[in-house]
Amino acid sequence: MRTVSFPAASKEYDVIIGNGAVSVLGTETKKLCPGALKALIVSETNVAPLYLDKVRGELEKAGIEAFDYVFEAGERSKGIEAVAAMWNKMAEAGFTRTDFVVGLGGGVTTDMAGFAAATFLRGINVIQIPTSLLAMVDASIGGKTGIDIAKGKNQVGAFWQPSVVIEDISFLKTLPDEVFTEGMGEVIKHAFIVDPVLLEKLEKANGNIRDDEELLEDIVSMNVADKASVVKEDENDNGRRQILNYGHTIGHVIERDSGYTKPHGICVAKGMGIMIDACVRAGSLEAGEAERMKAVMKLYNLPASDEITPEEIVSGAMNDKKKRGNNISVILVNKIGKAEIRKMTPEEFMRFLSK
Ligand code: GLY
Repeated sequence: MRTVSFPAASKEYDVIIGNGAVSVLGTETKKLCPGALKALIVSETNVAPLYLDKVRGELEKAGIEAFDYVFEAGERSKGIEAVAAMWNKMAEAGFTRTDFVVGLGGGVTTDMAGFAAATFLRGINVIQIPTSLLAMVDASIGGKTGIDIAKGKNQVGAFWQPSVVIEDISFLKTLPDEVFTEGMGEVIKHAFIVDPVLLEKLEKANGNIRDDEELLEDIVSMNVADKASVVKEDENDNGRRQILNYGHTIGHVIERDSGYTKPHGICVAKGMGIMIDACVRAGSLEAGEAERMKAVMKLYNLPASDEITPEEIVSGAMNDKKKRGNNISVILVNKIGKAEIRKMTPEEFMRFLSK
């Protein structure tokens, strides 16, 4: 078990990572939520049957009365109705400002649990217990919380940092293969943008990391530290944090065009592949580096291309919430481990993507 510190400007907190890490929930609760009497565990229909009782038991051992809100698994549940149901459940149970929320699940769950906590009584504590690889290395850390609206994904939300994030590596055992692969999209993104040592580790493991708990703990910890190093400089996403969007400008368009049926991490991987090719064409990324990047994506079963056209990408990117003014913030990796943010007009981005 290890602890990685996450020093966001508004709040510094621990991310506790390891096999059986959920057993620290009670002691962390007593330390971080003094005076708490009640907790709302937010989870979904795939995860709750596996881990809800365990989490409830840990809270009850610490003298906390546990309530739960379990929603239908999937992105379609990520709306204001679910969050309103959480607010009402807490209000009916008489929650006060010292009580707290627990997010138990993947990114949809931790985003909504965080948003319910950020808004109930103008903000109460949230403890995140991510159960997917993607949520462990990305969604549950860094304080982005929110919901989808008809116009798009994550359009309403708040920055709200958790009190602690508990990442029990043994929870990854029950993850379907395709969901694990999706998480690898964000893992490899971190390697490309800031962490060449992680890339070497992934290459050395030759695609075999799922069954090695120690290696997984190591890889997850490196990813948490990578994200912390970026977020600590720019918690509110106005500058350097945007490098975490490598592959996302294109990935989001592919994801949205599929009606959110294609998994996020897979779409990000496709976006990264398209960016790699464009950088090679522009002469800013060496062919050898590009080959190495694509080879590691292949090792972990990630796609590196898509049928989407430059016109579709640019028109989709113009509607992205990450757009600032009339320019598109394009994230480039021209050397493994070094990402840069380049502002492009739609015309420049179109030229950059065109073969
Ligand atoms: N997932 C990107 C970020 O947290 O900024």
